[in-house]
Amino acid sequence: MTFTEDIAHKLQLLNLNHAWYNIFAYLLKPITAFITLYQSKPANTAVYLHQKRIRYGKNFACAGGLWMSDFEEVKKNLLEPQARAYKLAPSQLRKEVLPKSFLLSLSQAGAGGNGDWEAYRAAVNEVIFDDSVKERWGDSTARKLIDDLAEEYKTLNMDDKLDIFFEPNDSGLNMFLAKYLHYVIFGIDPSNEEAIKAIVKFHYELKSAAYHINVISQILFRKNESEVEQALSKVAKIYEDSPTISKMNENEERYKNMTKKELSLLMVSIMSLAGMVGPQTLATIVLGNRGLPEYEGKKTGSIKVENIWDTIDLNDRDEVLKYMLECGRLRHPVSNTHKIAQEPFTAEVNGKNVKFPKGTLIYIPMQLASLDESVYGADTFEFNHNRENLCPFSTIFHSFGNETNGRICPGKAVAETMIVDVLIALGKVRRGLTDQAYGAM
Ligand code: HEM
Repeated sequence: MTFTEDIAHKLQLLNLNHAWYNIFAYLLKPITAFITLYQSKPANTAVYLHQKRIRYGKNFACAGGLWMSDFEEVKKNLLEPQARAYKLAPSQLRKEVLPKSFLLSLSQAGAGGNGDWEAYRAAVNEVIFDDSVKERWGDSTARKLIDDLAEEYKTLNMDDKLDIFFEPNDSGLNMFLAKYLHYVIFGIDPSNEEAIKAIVKFHYELKSAAYHINVISQILFRKNESEVEQALSKVAKIYEDSPTISKMNENEERYKNMTKKELSLLMVSIMSLAGMVGPQTLATIVLGNRGLPEYEGKKTGSIKVENIWDTIDLNDRDEVLKYMLECGRLRHPVSNTHKIAQEPFTAEVNGKNVKFPKGTLIYIPMQLASLDESVYGADTFEFNHNRENLCPFSTIFHSFGNETNGRICPGKAVAETMIVDVLIALGKVRRGLTDQAYGAM
């Protein structure tokens, strides 16, 4: 952190809390807008956020908002209704390419919302994540996908070519994720080559997540926006015709008469921004392909999680889950989220009480709460999957353990089941064990 960062912090703070008659603050707006854009990338990383907290305290200004990292504050913000903006972590989303039902940007009724979030979230919970999801994740098709992945891991591991397991889109982990998630969530047949090809093309090759993010999208897709639009429509049609969405009743008042097409477009945006990226990030962390963060003054970065994975009891699903949650505690796949203040409020910043108006963007850094020494003790930067309160305090799925304001990630159970299954199967390969049955969740 440097002198320039201090200036940036002051300017960001001024931008958030200036009086309406402060002409100076208005003149500086172009500069603060630039700083906001500049900070929005590093503000996704745990190391950058941790450095900010060391320098400025629990509350600090960055990337156009106030970060409130106190453990109890984060917990409260995850449990109370949230008002939302078009943001994914600190990145600005492209509203014009998102459906009106885009859940992550809708406010809850208890925080100024008009009931849209409740209606569309109910459709996702009841139409997409119904009991058939549990049947599919336990059936022979899902098992075969896991077994095939383990076989691929075994061959590439023996040939010392694990980079090939993690990198290409059309094989290894990425292909597995595309097939498994679309099978378990939508019932799309993983042997349907045409559908899988379209899904891989849109989500991986054309970078569907980046397409929804402002500035990046306009730069990356300047020349082929229509190609991306066509690929998006194709995937939306595949979702609409899937066993899950095709059985939906379109005249459900509870879902504000949402149509199959609307639900499929919502799910395209959700799979682009949450459903593919989250599992891919967490899977690579737990499989040891994405190191833990180098927190300032700590040794977390030198921990090799795969060495711990090699020692846990693979017949104990609970222990495997705790291993996954501890990896996620030290490196959240999604480090933060946000809400919009519904009232003016006061917060301590750098030892001073500062007033903020209604409408202030408040960041909710789950990652920082998960490192709080006053909660997790002096060994918080170390790996201990048997630590007290690991599961009930976990914030990686936008909840506090199983406590939620209703906005808990609906993909949590699928992601947890899949990653535990993968850790068991690949872990057995690593230990030269191949013939033991996998337990049920
Ligand atoms: C390891 C995997 C995953 C992680 C760590 C994860 C994490 C999260 C987090 C942190 C949020 C809150 C984001 C925010 O509000 O800004 C979220 C929301 C969401 N996630 Fe996941 N997610 C994962 C997998 C999935 C999957 C597979 C799906 C499948 C569809 C999914 C669907 C959603 C949806 C629909 C929301 C919006 C919830 C709402 O606002 O009502 N996620 N997820």
